[in-house]
Amino acid sequence: MAKIETIEVATAARPYPVLVGGGLLERAGILDQWMGGGDVLAVTSRTVAGLYLDRLPLLLGARGCESIILPDGEEAKDASHWQRILRRMARLGLGRDCTLLALGGGCVGDVAGFAAACYHRGVDYVQLPTTLLAQVDSSVGGKTAINTDWGKNLLGAFHQPRAVLCDTRALDTLPEREYAAGLAEVVKYGMIADSGFFDWLESNKRMLLARDDDCLRYAVRRSVEIKARIVAEDEHDRSGRRAALNFGHSFAHAIEHSAGYGEWLHGEAVAAGMCMAARLAVLEGGLQEAERKRLEALLDALGLPVHAEGFGADTLKRAMLADKKNLKGAIRLVLPNGMGRARLTGDFSDESLDAALKGREP
Ligand code: NAD
Ligand code: GLY
Repeated sequence: MAKIETIEVATAARPYPVLVGGGLLERAGILDQWMGGGDVLAVTSRTVAGLYLDRLPLLLGARGCESIILPDGEEAKDASHWQRILRRMARLGLGRDCTLLALGGGCVGDVAGFAAACYHRGVDYVQLPTTLLAQVDSSVGGKTAINTDWGKNLLGAFHQPRAVLCDTRALDTLPEREYAAGLAEVVKYGMIADSGFFDWLESNKRMLLARDDDCLRYAVRRSVEIKARIVAEDEHDRSGRRAALNFGHSFAHAIEHSAGYGEWLHGEAVAAGMCMAARLAVLEGGLQEAERKRLEALLDALGLPVHAEGFGADTLKRAMLADKKNLKGAIRLVLPNGMGRARLTGDFSDESLDAALKGREP
C-alpha cells in the first residue's frame, strides 16, 4: 500500500493533520475518525462528482452522507451557492455536531469552508482537495471565502478544517492546464521559503510534468510543510509573515481582474505575477538578475506564462490599489529578497513598479 505522510498544522485552537498519499480516496473508513456524532453532507462540483463522489460511502465506513453538487469553477463561489449549501443543511436538520466534506478544487473548498464557518456559528469540515492548487495551497490554512460583486474573496472567515486529505492519485484526471496552474503555487514556496526546494524543482521538472507519483508526493508534501509552518506562525494574517504566501498575487489579481475572471487561471496569473514581482525586486536591489532568470526559466519549462501582455501598466496599477495588503491607499507587495526569502514591503519606487508592470528588461 502506498505510503501516507502526515503534516501537522499547529494552529492555536486545534492542530489538525494534512495527509498526503497516493490512493487516500480508496481507503475504507479513513474519514470516520474525523466525523463528529452528527450527519455528514458532502459538497462537490459537477466534474468532481462524476469522478469521485461514489468513493465517499467507502471512505465513511458505516455512515451514509447526503451530497450537494455545485457548478465547476468560480461560479460555485457565488453567494447563491453558499446559501444553497446553508439552506440544504437547515432542511436536513443538521445540528452543531454535523460535518461538511469539501470534495473538489479550491472553489468548492472555499465555499464549503465558508458555509461550515457560518452554519450554527461554525461546524466541522474536512477538506478532500482534488486539484494540485487545492492540495498545496487552498485546503490548508483555513481561509474560506466567496466572491462578491465588489471583488473576489471579499466575504469570508478564518475557519480551520478538522483534517485535509491530499490524494495525489486524484490528480491523474486533472486537465494539463489546471495541473500547470497548481505548479505555479509549488514554485512560489521555493521562492519564498526554501531555495533548496527551488533547486529540487529545477532538477525534477520533467518528472513533475509527467506526474511521477514519488515526485508529486514530495512536491505536495514539501509545499504543505512550508504552508503549515507559515500558517502556524501567523494564522490570521496579521504579522506580515503569512502575506509572503501572496508572492506574485497582487499582480495576479490585477491580471485576472483586467482580463475578466476565468480568462486566465489563477495559477497562470500567479506565474506571470511572480515574474513581475521578481523584476521589481531586481530593480530595487533585492534579487539578482540571474535569480530572476532562473524563476522565469522554471515557470516557462512548466508551461506557465511569464509575461502578461496587452494590459496597460495604469490599468494593472489601478486594479492593484484594491488589494487587501495595501495600507492607507499605498500599494504593498511581497518581494523576494534572495532565493527562498520574501517580505511584504511598500518600499519601492513608482518608476520601478511601472517598469515591472511593463515587463521591461531591468
Ligand atoms: P477549481 O476549484 O475551479 O478547479 C479547477 C477545475 O478542475 C474545476 O472545473 C474542477 O471541477 C476541476 N477538477 C477538480 N478536481 C479535478 C480532478 N481531480 N480531475 C478533473 N477535474 C478536476 O480551481 P482551483 O485552482 O482548484 O482553485 C481556485 C480557487 O482557489 C480560487 O477561487 C482561489 O481564490 C482559491 N484559493 C483559495 C486559497 C485559500 O487559501 N483559501 C488559496 C489559493 C486559492
Ligand atoms: N493563499 C494565501 C494564504 O493562505 O494565506
